[in-house]
Amino acid sequence: MKEINFTINNRLFDSYLERMNFLNEISIDYPEAISFGSGRPPEAFFNVRDVISCFQTFVDRSRTDGEISDATYNALGQYNKTKGIINEDIARLLETDEGIRVQPEDIIMTDGAQEAMAIIIDTLFDATAGDGVLLVSEPSYIGFVGYAKIAGIAIAAVDRKGDGICLDHLEQTILRLQKEGKHARVLYEVPDFHNPTGAYMPLEERKQLLELAEKYNFLIVEDNPYGYFRYDSEKIPTLKALDPYRRVLHIGSFSKTLFPAVRMGYIVADQVFTTNNKPIKLVEEFKKTKSFITVNTSTLLQAMVGGFLRRQNHSLIASNTDKIEACRRKRDAMIEALTSASWGGTAAGTGGVKWNKPSGGFFLSMDVPFEMTDQLLKECVEKYSVIFCPMSFFCLDSTRGTRQIRLAFSNMTGEKIQQGVQRLSAFIKAKS
Ligand SMILES: Cc1ncc(COP(=O)(O)O)c(C=O)c1O
Repeated sequence: MKEINFTINNRLFDSYLERMNFLNEISIDYPEAISFGSGRPPEAFFNVRDVISCFQTFVDRSRTDGEISDATYNALGQYNKTKGIINEDIARLLETDEGIRVQPEDIIMTDGAQEAMAIIIDTLFDATAGDGVLLVSEPSYIGFVGYAKIAGIAIAAVDRKGDGICLDHLEQTILRLQKEGKHARVLYEVPDFHNPTGAYMPLEERKQLLELAEKYNFLIVEDNPYGYFRYDSEKIPTLKALDPYRRVLHIGSFSKTLFPAVRMGYIVADQVFTTNNKPIKLVEEFKKTKSFITVNTSTLLQAMVGGFLRRQNHSLIASNTDKIEACRRKRDAMIEALTSASWGGTAAGTGGVKWNKPSGGFFLSMDVPFEMTDQLLKECVEKYSVIFCPMSFFCLDSTRGTRQIRLAFSNMTGEKIQQGVQRLSAFIKAKS
């Protein structure tokens, strides 16, 4: 094929940006391998037929009077409101399940959480101004960081500590940036069953984080796709539910509570800023940005999700009970398999293998007794037929996460979990 001499966005050559595709495709490349690699929701519980039928529920319940005509359907085929058509349903869901009180007009529907991230970054940062910095605790979900990299945004990594962020390091980082004439504008975080570590941020730490946001004038992006998957801990309110200062932008997603193909997410943004001495409503700026990305989120898909919420009386708790229980059993099977596996001389307490027991979500993290490289991962997949994710994949700083791996258990049977852990232990013992 004739090649064209041309340049593209140079930032795309950053190897960090290969990681998302790697996670999505490695199981396809090695179909025989047991994969703890990507945190997919359990297919056995996808209620696709049921959710498709909810489109009709939406149409039927939206009718004020008279027959449902072709025009009713055709209106849903037309371009529609940029911020969405089911915002009232989302506001009711948030109040019912999360105790978050928000006006429907302060919500913007998005094509999955991923579009929410793009909208937030494009709206809050101007890469050419060069003074705004994004803070992330490391390791961190790569969807937000990856997009920020494509957009050319400066990113500062903050240490994690216990089940949350090291707040001392966060403060030091903010002050260091201030000295350099930079403003830490946004902190991205997944407080509920963090991807990739599985951590559930304690209440006190959430409150202190909100105080820091107010003190140092930054916004917190709270990404919450896993919050419903709580197994055995007390419910801790989301940052948004606790936020007295309106510092939190809350991102929701239906990828795990329904299924990823609905590509449905939303941002709660009830902030008013003073910019150049004028008040601006942040959600209206998000709307402007979105109108140049996806124009509006598919109205047909919104109708499906809206119909589902109406059928469920605007609560996803009851409709997810089976899924949550199934994932809890997978978590238990994972812990049981890890506990009963033989780790030889690498056992816990000897500087060797060690794992956490997450109280929700799809992931746990494991310390391994040697540096995990891409080459070793490849060897493990090819020789031992088991896939995992090195924690360094989720870090910008190459010194972080080198002796840790992430294990996803959400889409596996108990039997596969058992087999996979045996293969993993064989690999780890052979390499220690
Ligand atoms: C922390 C986190 N946020 C967002 C997403 C993506 O959500 P969506 O499918 O709604 O784009 C994922 C998917 O794995 C995730 O782990």
